[in-house]
Amino acid sequence: MWNVRNCVGLAALAAGLIVGAGSSSSASEKGKALYVKHGCWQCHGFVGQGGIAGPALVPNVMPLEAMTNFMRSSNRAMPPYSEAILPNADMKEIHAYLGSVPKPADPKSIPLLSQ
Ligand code: HEC
Repeated sequence: MWNVRNCVGLAALAAGLIVGAGSSSSASEKGKALYVKHGCWQCHGFVGQGGIAGPALVPNVMPLEAMTNFMRSSNRAMPPYSEAILPNADMKEIHAYLGSVPKPADPKSIPLLSQ
């Protein structure tokens, strides 16, 4: 029988699912969102694989300190990102995201390529 109590139960279940989905997003997902928000993808590709304008940032991610120094002071082809534009906390998240991008398979592990 369909009644009000069922309805309330369903609503609570739906709310739980939505809240659950939000709170389960990992730190690297936050970093990915920031990577997109700050426009890094425009030059470095959506997963940091490199693009026409920017080099690949993965799989060899530079240490956070070096990356921060570079990004704050870049005066070459990449625009500098001051702390006002890209806070250190966001930098850390983006760095964590880049570190979470899976490495490509070792070509030696692909049988077709070793014939
Ligand atoms: C307008 C294009 C552009 C955008 C936007 C951009 N980059 Fe870059 N990035 C470059 C270019 C070009 C280089 C190589 C610069 C050089 O060697 O001076 C570079 C270099 C880098 C490097 C150093 C890579 C290495 O191995 O030396 C890092 C790290 C980096 N970018 C991260 C980022 C992040 C994170 C963002 C977003 C906050 C971003 N970039 C946005 C163009 C861009």
